[in-house]
Amino acid sequence: MVSQRIKDELKAEVSEMKAKGITPGLAVIIVGDDPASRVYVNSKKKACAEIGIYSEEYALSGETSQQELLELIEKLNKKDDISGILCQLPLPKHIDEKAVIDAIAPNKDVDAFHPVNVGKIMIGDYDFLPCTPAGVMELIKESGIEIKGKECVVVGRSNIVGKPMTMLLLHEHGTVTVCHSKTRDLKEVTLRADILVAAVGVPELIRGDMIKEGAVVIDVGMNRLPDKRLVGDVCFSEASEKAMAITPVPGGVGPMTIAMLMKNTVKAAYLNA
Ligand code: GUN
Repeated sequence: MVSQRIKDELKAEVSEMKAKGITPGLAVIIVGDDPASRVYVNSKKKACAEIGIYSEEYALSGETSQQELLELIEKLNKKDDISGILCQLPLPKHIDEKAVIDAIAPNKDVDAFHPVNVGKIMIGDYDFLPCTPAGVMELIKESGIEIKGKECVVVGRSNIVGKPMTMLLLHEHGTVTVCHSKTRDLKEVTLRADILVAAVGVPELIRGDMIKEGAVVIDVGMNRLPDKRLVGDVCFSEASEKAMAITPVPGGVGPMTIAMLMKNTVKAAYLNA
């Protein structure tokens, strides 16, 4: 798996860094008891341990005030053994996510959510790439398809995935179209895609008849159905009849997101050394 290869490479790099006296450290903050967030945070801590990255978890109660959370971030911004800070989203409703993202020091913002980092990505001059879009780019490269000149369609326009995804594909010279809930004829657009990235959070929205024969399909969706099944934004069984390459859910993009977070944490350790 690509994610394992990246983690193996990082493990070797971290071992060399430690010999030079630099140890990457990641602080992971989780507020409340969202079960999906708990699973993600556990995976992130496990990956740190596997690679040799020092990690600290701050599991705060769902009643934590915004002020308390901001004070914790302020403390972590100044903490020398912490190179990266990640506050797992979503946050409880009484906390303003934007205020929290803005509080994280840009050079420790391993999610690349801070406006400074978002702006740098827009220009193409960045320290950190957002983990999920960066992982998707690695998977596209792995498929062997060249992005340059290709029709790329991104379904979804979130700040976390859709918007940065669009920029990264554009940097690689793709012809990018972004679709969203107000798009008039979704199928007409998705059928043009040589590379289709689905990141809308609607279970199996993308059906087989919306995919061009031979397309590369990347499914960022993680949707829990009432019967507890986990499905993506793409109907895998139908889409795999059409696609040249397609990522499964779970196991496709998810592990890549974590590998990219590890990569950003190593980068942050160099930046903050
Ligand atoms: N919630 C869902 N995806 C992410 C992510 O990439 N980073 C953080 N911090 N929270 C998330």
